[in-house]
Amino acid sequence: MAKRVLVAYASRAGSTAEVAERIGETLRGLEFNVDVKNVKKVTSIAQYDSIIIGSAIRMFKLLPETIKFANRFKEELKNKIVAYFIVCLTMQEDTEKSRIQAQAYLKPLLEIKEPISIGLFGGKMDYSKLSFIWRILFKGKVPEGDFRDWESITDWSNKLSERLLNE
Ligand SMILES: Cc1cc2nc3c(=O)[nH]c(=O)nc-3n(C[C@H](O)[C@H](O)[C@H](O)COP(=O)(O)O)c2cc1C
Repeated sequence: MAKRVLVAYASRAGSTAEVAERIGETLRGLEFNVDVKNVKKVTSIAQYDSIIIGSAIRMFKLLPETIKFANRFKEELKNKIVAYFIVCLTMQEDTEKSRIQAQAYLKPLLEIKEPISIGLFGGKMDYSKLSFIWRILFKGKVPEGDFRDWESITDWSNKLSERLLNE
């Protein structure tokens, strides 16, 4: 049984942080002992049975601190139960094609450790949080809006909890 859980996330504009919090809240409600932390603030993973690593996607890649985190704790992760999730606009619509594309972003993490579960979630685009340059580049090409599907995030967390209890 893997009851001590760390949800470690990387986020730029805050939407992935909020998804990480929702996953944490859901697991807490199921009697798991959960910490939710930015990957940059994690100094040790020794006290956890399972690590859920989540990242926003920018320019077709995981945020760099996500991969740094996984590499920093590579040896310890071998003995932990691991799950991954990403938050991105590719998953604005949940289709077979978008899933294949989004899953490819996870390659650097998959090379480090096989997870027991992968969550692929739609993200949020808020132009007011972008720098002037990105706003100009994205305007008219990248849709603004919140595409996070909270039901699917909660559903994934519930299914993950069952897997964790069986580990
Ligand atoms: C500069 C920039 C680049 C992005 N590049 C991608 C991308 O390549 N693929 C994708 O699916 N989403 C991309 N997105 C969308 C983000 O993944 C999405 O907005 C996510 O919710 C951001 O998470 P955050 O709020 O935690 O930073 C990009 C967003 C920004 C602002």
